Amino acid sequence: MFDLPDDEILPLSKEHVFWTWSAQARVNPIPLQRAEGVYFWDTTGKRYLDFNAMTMCVNIGHGNRRVIEAMQAQAAELPYAAPGMATRIRALASRAVAGITPGGALSKVLFTLGGADANENAVKLARGYTGRFKVLTRYRSYHGATAGAMALTGDPRRLAWEPGLMPGVVHFLDPYRYRSTFHRTNPDLPEAEFSQDYLNHLEEIIQYEGPETIAAVLMESVTGTNGVLIPPDGYLAGVRALCDQYGIVMIADEVMSGFGRTGKWFAVDHWQVVPDIITMAKGLTSAYAPLGAVAMKPGIAAAFDERVFESGLTYTSHPVSLAAAVANIQVMKDERIVEHAAEMGPVLNRMLKDLGEAHPSVGEVRSIGLFGILELVRNRETKEPMAPWNSSSPEMVALRRACQENGLFLYTHWHTVLIIPPLIIDEPQLQEGFAVLDAALKITDKAVQ
Ligand SMILES: Cc1ncc(COP(=O)(O)O)c(C=O)c1O
Repeated sequence: MFDLPDDEILPLSKEHVFWTWSAQARVNPIPLQRAEGVYFWDTTGKRYLDFNAMTMCVNIGHGNRRVIEAMQAQAAELPYAAPGMATRIRALASRAVAGITPGGALSKVLFTLGGADANENAVKLARGYTGRFKVLTRYRSYHGATAGAMALTGDPRRLAWEPGLMPGVVHFLDPYRYRSTFHRTNPDLPEAEFSQDYLNHLEEIIQYEGPETIAAVLMESVTGTNGVLIPPDGYLAGVRALCDQYGIVMIADEVMSGFGRTGKWFAVDHWQVVPDIITMAKGLTSAYAPLGAVAMKPGIAAAFDERVFESGLTYTSHPVSLAAAVANIQVMKDERIVEHAAEMGPVLNRMLKDLGEAHPSVGEVRSIGLFGILELVRNRETKEPMAPWNSSSPEMVALRRACQENGLFLYTHWHTVLIIPPLIIDEPQLQEGFAVLDAALKITDKAVQ
């Protein structure tokens, strides 16, 4: 449709494109040609196995015809509607999203353009509902790159833009067992005690900040890029109880952990916890079109029955994105993709553990569903990471390069390797990727002291 020879894509892009998250002179993008299932191909015809679902988002896999055709049909019927209008696809999309929230309890849905503005809108809703201002989020978190979402983010990605971000955010510590600040001398304590220590920590912060000033606690149900941190049993229920006790809105950021990633529709479903608000994006359309959503309990929405919700964007509820969401959710149901992710969970976990046992540079592995991570270390005893905090290292760069050269696309974050493939991946395809990883880990093994 658009005329540009394959070999001109990269030079023309380098001439005109300004890249996000990049030093402009140092970008080296893969010139992408097409994608299908769990694979994509560059313009030289080289095939890559996609172990990151592109940006942890193509949950149903690449090239799904049903979603593409639904978008095409919607574009032909009605490509755009003003945000204040009711459309068939908006009615269907909001019902579809409400229907997959825990017990259908979050029955009001606000559509956004992605995850960052989903979180910002969730905070506005919580502030309006409670009449309070502060928001508590965790240090090991990423909640998006707009100013408000950057403020919510606990990890160092916010540092480049401070000060000047949204005020009122207070961070607290995550229950991160492998590197728990509180438990260096007693790492083997029972899970319930470990969980309670972090709940006590949160409650202490609530007290110091003044419960009457806190609108929301916002957290990734399972932390994504900051470590695939799976909450210990009792933790999310404990946070729920603290929120109830102090009249605080509980917001679960399921932008990465939602839509089957953990083997349930939402990660909170593993612990039967019902937040007041769930934010989502990525897997909502499997990234076939940009879309986020804020699903909320009707009581939250009712705070705006008579008061105007002073927010909205031109592309709110874009019909083509909504068509992608409705078709994507239908595909996930019809093809039992969440169930498949749940079945593949133990398979991935076993492969991670095997890799961990075979390679001295693997300090710990964690996974839930098709959401996995390897923590690479220079020393298993001291747990010294293979790359320093908020940085990289020659070994991590070489590992990622070796994977890519051998046709495995994955995401490394500091000293970790994330495994977040499309949810349709099968066991032989996982094995194919793990064989490449197995060979590449020899690079980091050499750095072990
Ligand atoms: C947990 C989480 N929240 C929010 C976001 C931001 O989403 P978006 O990039 O669509 O704004 C991301 C993106 O990676 C995420 O992982």
